[in-house]
Amino acid sequence: MPKAYPIVDHEYDVIVIGAGGSGLRATFGLAQQGLKTACISKVFPTRSHTVAAQGGMSASLGNMGEDDWRWHMYDTVKGSDWLGDQDAIEYMVREAVPAVIELEHYGVPFSRTPEGKIYQRAFGGMTTHYGEGTAQRTCAAADRTGHAILHTLYQQALKHNAEFFIEYFATDLLMDDDGSCRGAIAWNLCDGTIHRFRAHTTILATGGYGRVYFSCTGAHTCTGDGNGMALRAGLPVQDMEFVQFHPTGLYGAGCLITEGVRGEGGYLTNSNGERFMERYAPHAKDLASRDVVSRAMTIEIREGRGCGPNKDYVDLHIEHLDPKIIHERLPGISETARIFAGVDTTKEPIPVQPTCHYNMGGVPTNRYGEVVHLKDGNPDAVVPGLMAVGEAACVSVHGANRLGSNSLLDLVVFGRAAAIRCGETVRKGEKHKPLPQSVTDKALDYFDRIRNLNGEVPTAALRTEMQQIMQRDCAVFRTGETLKEGSNKLAQTWAKRAALRVKDRSLIWNSDLVETLELENLLYQAVTTMNSAVTRTESRGAHAREDFPDRNDHEWMKHTLAWCDDTGKTRIDYRPVHMQPLSNEIEPIPPKKRVY
Ligand code: FUM
Repeated sequence: MPKAYPIVDHEYDVIVIGAGGSGLRATFGLAQQGLKTACISKVFPTRSHTVAAQGGMSASLGNMGEDDWRWHMYDTVKGSDWLGDQDAIEYMVREAVPAVIELEHYGVPFSRTPEGKIYQRAFGGMTTHYGEGTAQRTCAAADRTGHAILHTLYQQALKHNAEFFIEYFATDLLMDDDGSCRGAIAWNLCDGTIHRFRAHTTILATGGYGRVYFSCTGAHTCTGDGNGMALRAGLPVQDMEFVQFHPTGLYGAGCLITEGVRGEGGYLTNSNGERFMERYAPHAKDLASRDVVSRAMTIEIREGRGCGPNKDYVDLHIEHLDPKIIHERLPGISETARIFAGVDTTKEPIPVQPTCHYNMGGVPTNRYGEVVHLKDGNPDAVVPGLMAVGEAACVSVHGANRLGSNSLLDLVVFGRAAAIRCGETVRKGEKHKPLPQSVTDKALDYFDRIRNLNGEVPTAALRTEMQQIMQRDCAVFRTGETLKEGSNKLAQTWAKRAALRVKDRSLIWNSDLVETLELENLLYQAVTTMNSAVTRTESRGAHAREDFPDRNDHEWMKHTLAWCDDTGKTRIDYRPVHMQPLSNEIEPIPPKKRVY
């Protein structure tokens, strides 16, 4: 063990890494059952990125018209372009209804209908009668739903006496020689101490990795640290090639302008003033699923019908809506548009462009949140002691493309499911087995190596290089040529890691060291994303290959697994999609052409 790192030891039944929606839902569910639980977060919990979720959380409550969980399931499977696992999807959409009611009882201040019910808005791809009508299924707290949910979950966690380690950066998992996870090492950013958390189960709730791209709606903290830790531990990530570009990122700034805008009657136009979505999705128009709308916008811009002096964005209109509706239901985006684009939404359109928003891929799990990997030919083999939830995980309920408002749902449903599973599998207060010293040493050696990087390449420069490669070669549209070029360029970026420079060795509030640890995690994810995309020679959901424009169910109805070794080399394998729903109350939804 490097002598410079005296260790502060902790023992818990379960630790949760990350304090966003899924992390907090898991944390308080665990504490509620009497499990000794710690939640470790690199940011203050209510600053986690769930706070930025705007439009809402889907559930077939039927408050605004008829609805049915089966329609929600159909929409989600179709939205996923048939890559989602139908057992997990059935579980999620059925649990959605009690999950929203539970949140309401915990205190989430949902917007209301005149009769006092939870208000629900229309969202892309959400239909009634298996694609026929438009569903109003997305439960909203104005356009600040994530903020409302996150604060409520944090209050519940405090109420149930969960313990928090705030502004602690988890650097590595403690993986025993038998392949089980025994906890994690974390660095206290405030006083510089290093902490070893022993746990019977470790839950990764570390969110997405949007920051591998140059322009994204995610916070600067969205660096997918859990995925990075899993990859360094020799575990695979799944379906990384499926990256969602949200159609309405604010031009220039990248901030999210909620899809709820179009749900409330907003629409897109090109420089000719044409409502172009009518051509691409004649039925659903502006409320087609996100991959479809983002591709349509990209084609309009490419073909010279973009707006503005550089013809590189399109216009999003809500100026025709009653200002009272804007004020009541869309106050947040009006403020964002005013501050970041100088636009008065009651008078002029908002300039928007597709922006990286969500990672469908992540650490593969079953529907209980247990991490799975391919072991001895078994694609559902569980990694003992390790779970993942939320955007860090790939359950897979979103498959190749997530529907808007299914993310807050996923966080709450699977955060809860993971807590319930731990209640069944973890014995309260059970003594921890001795941990080989080599396990801790490995994690500390990694931390020490990064801390002592003393080359000539600034972290920010290498990060920008990676982000630009991803933005250029692995975005809304891809070809074999751009992807291979991207893969080669990323290999060169990877090689420069050894020449990085961390400006000083301080362990106290050393943001350069934080960003370098984050960059390590990002690079592992960039490489697995790019190389998974190179390999998948079809178009499905958010993975649009211009050289393979069709979906190919015969060869590609399977999840991609990608491993990355410490030389940056990726290994790819596959696991089957679960086509069989959980119950016999619904038939498997067979693949068909996906039109909106
Ligand atoms: O557009 C939005 O409000 C984003 C919602 C989501 O990604 O689920």
